[in-house]
Amino acid sequence: MIIGLFDSGIGGITVLHDALKIVKNADFLYYADTENVPYGTKTKPEVRGYVLNAADFLISHGADILVVACNTATSVAIEDLRQKYTIPIIGMEPAVKPAVENHKDKRILVTATELALKEEKLKKLITRLDAEDIVDLLPLPGLVRFAENLMFDEQSVLPYLKDALSPFSMRNYKTVVLGCTHFIYFKPVFEALLGPDIDIIDGNRGTVNKLLATITDLSIPLEGTNQITYYQSGSQVTDENILLNFSSLMTKLNDMDK
Ligand code: DGL
Repeated sequence: MIIGLFDSGIGGITVLHDALKIVKNADFLYYADTENVPYGTKTKPEVRGYVLNAADFLISHGADILVVACNTATSVAIEDLRQKYTIPIIGMEPAVKPAVENHKDKRILVTATELALKEEKLKKLITRLDAEDIVDLLPLPGLVRFAENLMFDEQSVLPYLKDALSPFSMRNYKTVVLGCTHFIYFKPVFEALLGPDIDIIDGNRGTVNKLLATITDLSIPLEGTNQITYYQSGSQVTDENILLNFSSLMTKLNDMDK
């Protein structure tokens, strides 16, 4: 079985990393749309076009299941993808539901890209959970830039994050939702800044559980070897330095699990 994942850039590697922990004997195609990153500051029709291109590419390269490892792409195009293709398509959702279950009379801060925060999909989710009065929204486009430039060090990121969070009285919050896959690399910086009383959560686990359940329901044999082929906007990555960057991101995520 071949699982195709895509994101605007390196954010979806965090989903690939989690998928590799629980899906054995599949092969993976990872598509980073580096020509068009960031998605979060673009228009909905633009991003929808990029997502359909990436999906076409992955499906024509043999993907049996598609994982939209990007909250922004999911929020603008998941319905179009499901209408267009017959293979299973798994999307991402900011982890607002677990945040509401965990809120303990405190507020929830949902961070994501500008586009994902503007979208109807998130508004509907918050309304469905009856959480309009306890949720605040914060776009963090700088974190996508830091991640794409592989700048993960606290010295660079902490001042940006401090400034972005300064309008909020964080003692009133129980949970910060990381609603963009790029933000997951900065979980340690959020933790350092916010301390142990605030929970930092993301939607990766939910997506990967859905992937596993979908695989179990399908009758396609699991006979891969967990081989990963990387693509950047339609070209296979063969450059040793870029491949090394991808593998060092995996190492970073493994270290964050410890
Ligand atoms: N990683 C993406 C997400 O989960 C979007 C980042 C971007 O391209 O703006 O929303």
